[in-house]
Amino acid sequence: MAKVIQIREGNADLKVFSSQKISKELQVFYNPAMKMNRDISILLLNALGKKEIIIADPMAGSGVRSIRFIKELKKGIIKNIHINDYSDKAINQIRDNLNLNKLGKDKRITISTNDANIFLMQSKGFHYIDIDPFGTPNPYLDSAAKKIARDGILAVTATDTSALCGTYPKACIRKYWAVPRRDEIMHETGIRILIRKVQLIGAQYDKALIPVFSYASKHYMRIFFICRKGKSHVDEMQKQHGNFNDAGPMWLGRLWEPGLAAKIAKLNKDEKLSKFLGIIEGESKIDIAGFYHLHAFCKKRKLKLKKTKEIKEEITNRGFKVSDTHFSPYGIRSDIGEDRLKEILNK
Ligand SMILES: C[S@@+](CC[C@H](N)C(=O)[O-])C[C@H]1O[C@@H](n2cnc3c(N)ncnc32)[C@H](O)[C@@H]1O
Repeated sequence: MAKVIQIREGNADLKVFSSQKISKELQVFYNPAMKMNRDISILLLNALGKKEIIIADPMAGSGVRSIRFIKELKKGIIKNIHINDYSDKAINQIRDNLNLNKLGKDKRITISTNDANIFLMQSKGFHYIDIDPFGTPNPYLDSAAKKIARDGILAVTATDTSALCGTYPKACIRKYWAVPRRDEIMHETGIRILIRKVQLIGAQYDKALIPVFSYASKHYMRIFFICRKGKSHVDEMQKQHGNFNDAGPMWLGRLWEPGLAAKIAKLNKDEKLSKFLGIIEGESKIDIAGFYHLHAFCKKRKLKLKKTKEIKEEITNRGFKVSDTHFSPYGIRSDIGEDRLKEILNK
């Protein structure tokens, strides 16, 4: 049985439904495991430092994300924040939570109870839209792509990772218009397939949605896109669609803007997050699609595995770039070719 408890997440005090099993059956959805998703959104908006932005939280649940934005984004960033959920129960809890945080009278806040697509389509547009659904973001991509402003940020979460990572290839073809591959690097190919899908929706409206920060964690994928407006941006973007590792088509361009990844890692004060963000900062500097999963690489070629540290030193000594990858603890991202890596492992 779910019960209401009071918690603190970041700088927000919240009344939320708590249950042993977190599922969409909760009367109002709140998942403590998604704290990292919200932490990174706050770090990213603080790192970008844009002023006077209009924010959309179309699927707000308990309101935790918006309340944290208001309390944790630097002064001057938020002009207005629109909090929406189609559930009356969620809206009641959002109002209670705003009051609990003494934000009940904040003039910057607008609350609505609409379907997310209607909410987006009835708006004049936003500088930041956060699509945080149960499962696939597909139903909301069209209205989000239409309503994201020039140079605005579209944040997309997908929790249906099994389709994208190849457990259900037919579902991936139907929903994401690409062939997935279930192997050691499936989280990266999966996120690249999702990125291209979002980009194709934006392309229809002459919007190039370029990833500036992306990651996959245990049960979800998350991408922040910047919206560049104009045909030439879209044409350039689409040149970076292609196949890789017998999967695709997918986005083969950068997953991160390196300057932004560095800023996010620097702004972060949470010890638990610092290793993760440090790894991403490292891999953001290497503009290569895919990574070497060292166990799989050695097994396939009947090579003896060496210590990762030694392999990385050898790669650096030969003048190539190398980093860990957040996608796998056994992975390294590097611009070294397969043959050269094989030489190192054969030595
Ligand atoms: C995954 S939860 C969102 C969690 C929230 N963003 C957070 O950070 O805690 C999804 C929310 O979307 C709402 N929802 C689902 N479908 C919707 C739709 N079509 N329009 C508006 N809200 C919707 C649900 O009521 C639920 O509160």
